[in-house]
Amino acid sequence: MEVVVKESYEEMSKLSAELIAEVIRRKPRAVLGLATGSTPLGTYKELIRLHKQEGLDFSRVITFNLDEYVGLVHGHPQSYHYFMSENLFKHINVNPKNVHVPDGTAKDIPGFCRWYEEQIVKTGGLDLQLLGIGSNGHIAFNEPGSSLGSRTRIKTLDDKTRQDNARFFKNMNEVPKYAITMGIGTIMDARQLILLANGAGKADAILKTCEGPITAIVPATIVQLHPKATIIIDKQAATKLTREYPAEPRVLVLA
Ligand code: F6R
Repeated sequence: MEVVVKESYEEMSKLSAELIAEVIRRKPRAVLGLATGSTPLGTYKELIRLHKQEGLDFSRVITFNLDEYVGLVHGHPQSYHYFMSENLFKHINVNPKNVHVPDGTAKDIPGFCRWYEEQIVKTGGLDLQLLGIGSNGHIAFNEPGSSLGSRTRIKTLDDKTRQDNARFFKNMNEVPKYAITMGIGTIMDARQLILLANGAGKADAILKTCEGPITAIVPATIVQLHPKATIIIDKQAATKLTREYPAEPRVLVLA
């Protein structure tokens, strides 16, 4: 695991986009795991710029999103389907057939989750998984206490996560209670991980993730066990770290 501390959100986003772009340049049919939330927005903006100005080609790229709220239709402005379309997919040349976002409206959720896992395996597995982190240390919607070996499934959202996400809804009652999420085992099977965090609100979770013991109570700590994980954070998210970390990764491409 490598921790890289950047001066700003913009620099964090540029580096993460560059790492993703390098994976696509090396393997045009790359299988990418993607995240939603505020954190990756700058990365997506930079990927869109690389596509439009430097011809980064997504035509063969395959994507799998981490999670989706249960019960929100795809066109709902807070659904992750809508988020991904607005913030990335409609601006790049990804083939809609290659895009996968969990279906929060599935009638048979366990069956859907099995299908989702099978599709990841069928495409050859995730080459790179992009992650944000919750202020409670969750990754995807694997809340504190989640099994570190879990697979894609339905999860009840933590009160803290619902409060954090309430800013996107009219009121707390509208915040969904359940989500479909890739499991921690699913995430750990990806060949490379990038975990992003910015802002002081993530400083505690980042301290535990980078320097704390591995525990299901802070699911993100599992990335310490991944052989190719890069944690890219801004200065604010780094304020509680006790050790010095570089501003550049050792190698740009983790071969
Ligand atoms: C989203 C996801 C979540 C977020 C996390 C941080 O797909 O998997 O784990 O990454 O909740 O959210 P933001 O980036 O909004 O702080």
